[in-house]
Amino acid sequence: MLPFGLLLLASLVCATPRPLVLWHGLGDSANAPGMKQFAEEIKQVHQGIFVHSIYIEEDLDKDRRAGFYGNVNEQIELVSEQLAAIPQLESGFDAIGFSQGGQFLRAYVERFNSPPVHNLITFGSQHFGISDIPTCGPRDFLCQIARRAVKSGVYSSWAQSNLVTAQYFRDPANLEEYYASNTFLTSINNEIAETRNETYARNFASLNKLVLVIFTKDKTVVPKESSWFASEVVVDDSGLSQQVLSDERAIIPMRQQPLYVEDWIGLRQLDERGDVIFVECDGEHMEIGPCWEELVRNYAG
Ligand SMILES: *[C@@H]1O[C@H](CO)[C@@H](O)[C@H](O)[C@H]1NC(C)=O
Repeated sequence: MLPFGLLLLASLVCATPRPLVLWHGLGDSANAPGMKQFAEEIKQVHQGIFVHSIYIEEDLDKDRRAGFYGNVNEQIELVSEQLAAIPQLESGFDAIGFSQGGQFLRAYVERFNSPPVHNLITFGSQHFGISDIPTCGPRDFLCQIARRAVKSGVYSSWAQSNLVTAQYFRDPANLEEYYASNTFLTSINNEIAETRNETYARNFASLNKLVLVIFTKDKTVVPKESSWFASEVVVDDSGLSQQVLSDERAIIPMRQQPLYVEDWIGLRQLDERGDVIFVECDGEHMEIGPCWEELVRNYAG
């Protein structure tokens, strides 16, 4: 028979799953019914788990608006203060980012990571940006206005500090303007040699596991392979190493990216350690139904 103290210890260890932090996607908000329901379902999988849903604004509608409008760098700083103030998270947590919430959580890891993230799971995130702005529902006016504004001047300084999607828009046909004007994606991807930050790479490589989920039928994120750190290239005769996918778009896969080869952000280190997990989820953008439970079981709690 095991001594009582050991039994108690064992039950304590089992009874306290690692806390979990969620960051919702564009058009959603921390207090939306869908997010609350997701948190409840996670609690069914991991009894007693503490779940925190990140918000920029506590009010549901204002929080939804902050997904479209705002300065992403400032939002991430605010989130770092929010997370640091939650006592249940002080020993670290797992994190799940939905869509743009995924690259925002990655930015948190690279820049702050205090308290530290153990496993980071991103669903359909735009790690290498987007080369087209997501389309909107027919009656989603907030989305439509933001989309029109982005399309009319994505690299203007106003767009780059006020329109969220503009801050991860990366047009392969116009990289010079992107490098010159973007202060979010260029930063977290350490793309600008002069300002490359080694702390980002050290923090990112300190993750236990990085789980990258791609939606196989994703028509919202262009290119969808951005979820796997791939980017689109303009097809020309430059002799770039390209992998042309069935839908005729040319993609630079993760392991051929200079970011990876020269390991600007610690991604190669993670991958060579075997700690980058590539997951295909069969569906359109954010159709997490068939996929989430197994991932939450394996990589959270
Ligand atoms: C690099 O990033 C860390 C963490 O965000 C920050 O404290 C530091 O000031 C940055 N270094 C430079 C040179 O910008």
